[in-house]
Amino acid sequence: MEKFKIEGGRPLAGDITVSGAKNAALPELLCALLTDEELRLSNVPCLRDVKTSLRLLEMMGKRCSFDPERGEVSISGAVTSHVAPYDLVKTMRASILALGPLVSFCGHAEVSLPGGCSIGARPVDLHIRGLQEMGAHIDLDGGYIHAEAVGGRLHGARIVMDKVSVTGTENLMMAACLADGTTVIENAAREPEVVDLADCLRMMGAHIRGDGTATVEVQGVQRLCGGSHRVVADRIETGTYLVAAMATHGVITCHDSCPFALDAVLSKLRSGGAEVTVNGSSITLDMRNREIRPVDITTAPHPGFPTDMQAQFTVLNALACGTGSITETIFENRFMHIPELIRMGARLDIRGNTVICSGPAALKGAQVMATDLRASACLVIAGLAASGTTVVDRIYHMDRGYERIERKIGALGGLIERVGD
Ligand code: EPZ
Repeated sequence: MEKFKIEGGRPLAGDITVSGAKNAALPELLCALLTDEELRLSNVPCLRDVKTSLRLLEMMGKRCSFDPERGEVSISGAVTSHVAPYDLVKTMRASILALGPLVSFCGHAEVSLPGGCSIGARPVDLHIRGLQEMGAHIDLDGGYIHAEAVGGRLHGARIVMDKVSVTGTENLMMAACLADGTTVIENAAREPEVVDLADCLRMMGAHIRGDGTATVEVQGVQRLCGGSHRVVADRIETGTYLVAAMATHGVITCHDSCPFALDAVLSKLRSGGAEVTVNGSSITLDMRNREIRPVDITTAPHPGFPTDMQAQFTVLNALACGTGSITETIFENRFMHIPELIRMGARLDIRGNTVICSGPAALKGAQVMATDLRASACLVIAGLAASGTTVVDRIYHMDRGYERIERKIGALGGLIERVGD
């Protein structure tokens, strides 16, 4: 199993170009199921989950091409299978995003229940209930969701989401595009990736408004066309590199980013003592000769502080001079990086869904194990900030969401190499 070997203690300095957002690319790849015409996506990151999504689309009969160097994807052709099999869905939960488009465009779908993952149970009841309100008949049998649009076509509905769900909002928004009538999604997710998906769907001919707010309204149309869309920049990748530069007292500029999507994160970086300046689509963070101050964070749906940045900020709080706290409100088990950070010398104390961080800790390199995508990013940052050598195991988690990470960190002066068993 591949590992990262990191030599810590060197400030990161330089420029990176931010990749396209994983969590926008995944729904936008699957919205190709809403038309037989060619959908072309650019700025698509070269990630495991992107390749998994393309494999799923091909299993359903789509013709797919991907140029990873240019970040360009083309998807076309008719759907010949309506099944998203367990063996694939178990490797990528976001496969659930095939459900809404398939039921809406083809009238039926069989999608494996994704099951939980290391950060939580990850139910999909809100996806299912919303589709039922739109006229889908749904059976859960043998670990699969069997969905049928009664009468062959979904109809509009007013759906009130019990919880804010990003992919739940995305699935129902996609399904509503071809439904008969108007769908209103209340308590919708407001994440920038939801807005980018809506932009892609509008380009295809969908009538959507209110995306980015808690109320999304979709006027169903008879058909959607193909076309071209550029995937929005990855705000979580951007935040991850900004934290890495801060933790190593370096200076970094992230180009082609989307600062407007990072207000809560930039605010906490400044509170933590960093000098952060925004110039168009570039964000510069300077932490040279500056002291890290502890911050108090509570994760929340956008525009609140993103749960996907919680683990990375735990490293900053471990290094900070003083006591900070981080409260996780979205997922029930997103502290698995904590024991690994403690093994590196961090002083962290979990109390329910809050971790109290007492710094400053002089982190020391160690052998650590990644458990999920953002936990692996946190351990890489800790290794870069620690003295000595850190070996991060199970880095396949990292490859799901960070494009060419060792090349980007190496270009910033970090010493990181991918090693086999
Ligand atoms: C999306 O996951 C992201 N994934 C996650 O990013 C991100 O952490 C999460 O949103 C929150 O921002 C993608 O976009 C592919 P949710 P998603 O539905 O949609 C509960 C990463 O690291 N819930 O917004 O699966 C759920 O248990 C990944 O890039 C239900 O109860 O998350 C959670 O407590 C990790 N029933 C809360 O809602 C449902 O039907 C928010 O989950 C759906 C969700």
